[in-house]
Amino acid sequence: MKVAYRVPFVDPRAHYRRLKDEIDDAIHACLSRGDLILRQQLRDFEAHLAQFVGTRYAVGVNSGFHALHFALIACGVGPGDEVITVAHTFVATISAIVHTGATPVLVDVGRDYNMDMDALERAITPRTRAVIPVHLNGRLCDMDRLMEIAGRHRLLIIEDAAQALGGTFRGRGAGSFGVAGCFSHYPFKVLGGFGDGGTLTTSDPEIARMATLLRYNGEDRETGEYHCHGYTALLDNVQAAVLDVKLKHLPAWIEHRRQIADLYREQLAGIPDLALPHFDGVEYRDTYQNYVVRTGQRDALAAFLRQRGVETLVHWPKPVWEHAGLRLGKWHLPKTEAICREVLSLPMSAETTEEQVAYVTNCIREFFRVR
Ligand SMILES: Cc1ncc(COP(=O)(O)O)c(C=O)c1O
Repeated sequence: MKVAYRVPFVDPRAHYRRLKDEIDDAIHACLSRGDLILRQQLRDFEAHLAQFVGTRYAVGVNSGFHALHFALIACGVGPGDEVITVAHTFVATISAIVHTGATPVLVDVGRDYNMDMDALERAITPRTRAVIPVHLNGRLCDMDRLMEIAGRHRLLIIEDAAQALGGTFRGRGAGSFGVAGCFSHYPFKVLGGFGDGGTLTTSDPEIARMATLLRYNGEDRETGEYHCHGYTALLDNVQAAVLDVKLKHLPAWIEHRRQIADLYREQLAGIPDLALPHFDGVEYRDTYQNYVVRTGQRDALAAFLRQRGVETLVHWPKPVWEHAGLRLGKWHLPKTEAICREVLSLPMSAETTEEQVAYVTNCIREFFRVR
């Protein structure tokens, strides 16, 4: 049954209404000139995104998945290699590894839902080629420890920054630490298009060139030469034009999300069985792609909020390896398993209002019977 939510998780219609004139102009400019494939709007967006992230290059592709997949291929990762990542991530992180023929090695996460660096160290073998840290919910991994471990073991770092555009660690942007950073522009990401999209960021010209070939069936557009078997995976020019419009607003939207997170924090403080996503560390600047709370009464709370017209989501209700069709084998990662039972993402977007937060937090306090 489709519910008309009083507080939707995100509101794409309100988002469009806010930006209508700018977006319509950008789309109109592309369509009226016939600028559909690999035109200036794509080059402009790539230049602006690279500058925003702090890398030399950005390559627009058609999903975060393909950014990850191309980063791995460009690094020469393939059969016989192991790639370490977390199980508590969107399946695409792991599928990108599987599609190269390499073996995914899954590790557990810490309190902040990001890779446990001790678990990473324990999982390293002579076959480990790369590590994919996932900066979940807009919070970066502990990049000091990760860079130190990866350096000592000569591992490549490919950042899954699909949820962390604009997030920083010691002032440095997500997607600028590793050999490549991978972003998603799925509509409900902080920088979302009107369909699928992604970007690979890197400062390595060879990786940028390889991703540019792979996204266009292996063809060098200057010479017409096919250098490899590639994919049809370009970021559409119209999408790039829209994303370029939105990128200008991104710092303000991130600030808004941080303010909404502060309101949730103030209004949900002191509920015994409710853990909030505010973690230590002045070196981190979180963007709150998702505002994830944690409780042993998750399913009952989600049902209660639904009844009250509040839309929530669960990222993710079942450990990824328990999906038999993925054939990932059996893993025992207690923190990941507990998280699957306990996490709930509350409404959070650039359009979330103070009134909505007040309504949601009142409902939550009512559920827990605290005033
Ligand atoms: C952590 C993470 N990795 C990878 C992806 C894949 O991105 P896309 O959906 O654009 O392929 C996503 C998107 O949901 C994600 O959240």
